[in-house]
Amino acid sequence: MSHSLDVIQRLQSPTGAYPASPTFSAYRGYSWLRDGAFIAEGVSRHGDAAGADAFHTWCARVIGDRAGQVDSLVSRAGRGEPVSPAEMLPTRFTLDGVDGDVDWWDFQLDGYGTWLWALREHSFRQGRAVPGVEKGVRTAARYLTSFWEMPCYDWWEEHVEQRHVATLGAVHAGLRAAIALGVLSGPESAAAGRAVEGIAALVAAEGLVGGRLTKWLGSDAVDASLLACVEPFGLYAADHPVGAATVAEVERQLAVDGGVYRYLADTFYGGGRWVLLAGFLGWNHARAGRREEALRYLDWMAAQATAEGDLPEQVSDRLLAPERLQEWLDRWGTVATPLLWSHGMYLILADELGVRA
Ligand code: BGC
Repeated sequence: MSHSLDVIQRLQSPTGAYPASPTFSAYRGYSWLRDGAFIAEGVSRHGDAAGADAFHTWCARVIGDRAGQVDSLVSRAGRGEPVSPAEMLPTRFTLDGVDGDVDWWDFQLDGYGTWLWALREHSFRQGRAVPGVEKGVRTAARYLTSFWEMPCYDWWEEHVEQRHVATLGAVHAGLRAAIALGVLSGPESAAAGRAVEGIAALVAAEGLVGGRLTKWLGSDAVDASLLACVEPFGLYAADHPVGAATVAEVERQLAVDGGVYRYLADTFYGGGRWVLLAGFLGWNHARAGRREEALRYLDWMAAQATAEGDLPEQVSDRLLAPERLQEWLDRWGTVATPLLWSHGMYLILADELGVRA
């Protein structure tokens, strides 16, 4: 526990950005909004208000700096002109806040929503605003309000042609958070509110099968990222039949002995069990009052640490597609370790269960 806090604090860049993983070849030097938002939530819950402030200030700056790009995209879309995924805001930034120069699966809306959600959580926990974030919040909210209906890459940076339910859940939570932060203009707030209603209606109409959420609109598969649509994003509450059925089905299909797969067809590094997803499932159990189950996931997460205490992205002992492991080892090297998002989720679940450093 104290190691998780220490790893994150030690590796936070002086700019405020959290690197996804300091040494992993494909992630080195980059910060993701999605990973960072959950990492910031973890440290905020364990007393590191300054670290979370620095991350949120960094996000607000990098997003606010792109207000011109967002306004031009919004006006073009408003005139009915097509905008392409390649023109949208990036998924990840260098630690200095610059768009990377390496090709990436670079159109993902969820991180912008997740950042707004985490900023609101942190601000309300602290009982004060993070200074200087208004422009970034308004820019992110305008961006999401205009483009939430577009297909984009999902949490796993796949399937750009689909509309992913976990992404819609993140945008729903992010726009509600932006409204709650109280910095949007009247028209921005009203438009964000209409988008929130539109997302809920679209998911209810096209994102459900058998009373539970689906991986993307029109699919019948599940994906562990859907856990976040219940806790923490609250698209469906834990005690709503859809929320309860979604968590139960993800656990039934994807959880094995405390670890959680991303989705059944996963082949990335052979498709292992992800430490951070055990965190999401535990978080859902904890919020639904199932403390023993939640503790089981926390214990499994801790048991995946290396001798130094570092948590990996995924563990490779019980793979869904073992024949696909070697190609990733050859391409990118050993699994990302430490993955700061894994440590952030450990901190969140520990806090939910009252386990302190
Ligand atoms: C995962 C993303 C994650 C990124 C950085 C990718 O392999 O699919 O969800 O944001 O790594 O950790």
